[in-house]
Amino acid sequence: MLEVPTMASPPVTPQPPAEAVAPLMRGLDVLGRLTDADGTLALADLARVTGLARSTVDRICATLAHLGFVRLDGRDAALAPPLMTVANACLDALRVPGLLGPLADALADELDESVSLAVPDGDDIRFVHQVLRRRALSISFRVGDALPMDGCAPGLVFRDGLELAVDDQLVEPGLVAVAVPVRGPDGSVVCAVSVVSHTSRHGAGELAGAVRGPLEACVRSMESVLGTSSYASGLRPEPRGLSSTKQAPVVSLARGLDVLTAFDAVHPTLTLSEIAEATGLARATARRALITYEHLGHVTHQGRTYRLTPRVLSLGCAPLSRTTLPRIAAPHLADLSKRLGESVGLSVPDGTAVRCTARVTPRRVMSVDIGVGSRLPAADTAAGRLLRDGGELAVADGPEAGLRSVAVPVRDRAGHVVSALDVTAHQGRGDDAAWAAELTGTAERIAADLHVTSRFVSVPVH
Ligand code: PHB
Repeated sequence: MLEVPTMASPPVTPQPPAEAVAPLMRGLDVLGRLTDADGTLALADLARVTGLARSTVDRICATLAHLGFVRLDGRDAALAPPLMTVANACLDALRVPGLLGPLADALADELDESVSLAVPDGDDIRFVHQVLRRRALSISFRVGDALPMDGCAPGLVFRDGLELAVDDQLVEPGLVAVAVPVRGPDGSVVCAVSVVSHTSRHGAGELAGAVRGPLEACVRSMESVLGTSSYASGLRPEPRGLSSTKQAPVVSLARGLDVLTAFDAVHPTLTLSEIAEATGLARATARRALITYEHLGHVTHQGRTYRLTPRVLSLGCAPLSRTTLPRIAAPHLADLSKRLGESVGLSVPDGTAVRCTARVTPRRVMSVDIGVGSRLPAADTAAGRLLRDGGELAVADGPEAGLRSVAVPVRDRAGHVVSALDVTAHQGRGDDAAWAAELTGTAERIAADLHVTSRFVSVPVH
């Protein structure tokens, strides 16, 4: 049984309008099911839970794979980091995470407790920012997760208009939270800030007393940011639109997904003509996609302008956002190891040493044996030298006699080197220049996935 409990109650879906695009609805259903299953499902199970023919599921997944949104791995389909482009469009257009996230981070530092930002989403609330404090006992939701409005502190803020709501283990035994509203310049509630703790640290009432002052100060800062925001004007937009140029197996699905990424912080609302222009789609095509999204609750309109709803985050955001660099890199390491027929891995600095955070080694009689977690002196490996000395390439004879390693950097969004990617093999088996070219290509693909994932969430490097 692969029935995965959904945290939010499923919406009751009435009959779709005649103009809704059926292949787009099916594609969104597949993405939603994969999200509910925490990112991966066997194709056969996807067919079962969607009620679609297996051949239809295969075609939809081939299209999603073509767009880079899904990875097909044997019998499984798994959500892939480029799908975060869709969540990022939504988070960007919502503006709350970009504007208020840094203030939530500062509050978490001040209180040494987890802090989250949530927005209303129909009968649910949806988390759009999370700052976690690592604790032995920690239950936490991810950016993109939803909770029923009537079962959590932010929900009580939105539903009952409370100035301060307390969740005394409503969501989960042991979990306590205090939420307060943040208002926009027009007085409407834009989001709720929550401070989240555990009964082993604070009782609910005690938590409210302890955090009230800093929480209220934080809300005042947030409201002043919302009041004076020139956020959009100072922002350089990300490249817009997806790769609709290459022919996908299900064209109407690929085109429909393009509509979502037309939105961003500079364009939080768009008219039909603007969407058609931004995506290069015919007006009629864009219009039918919008009708489809509106039917499913992903888009709303007021007069002539359309906007995304937070429900767009139900398309992959939560499973893709709680990840690490080694997890992002894993499929790329597997590809590279297969192509080179050698052992490849990632390392991070660890004092004067380097620590291996991921490794893929082909089965061989004589193979390199550097386990994940093992530490080696920086001077003994190419990865260690690269992380110590900088540069674009390092080579080393080592870590043991008879071995040779070549390494290149992996950079974060800011251009800082966060990890080294290496190939390590028996001397004389490969050609440094050819290896360097392969490593560089792979490091770029890993970095691209890291960059799209870490735009609104922090991704640990190990
Ligand atoms: C959270 O995990 O951020 C959270 C959980 C329950 C609440 C509020 C916030 O009531």
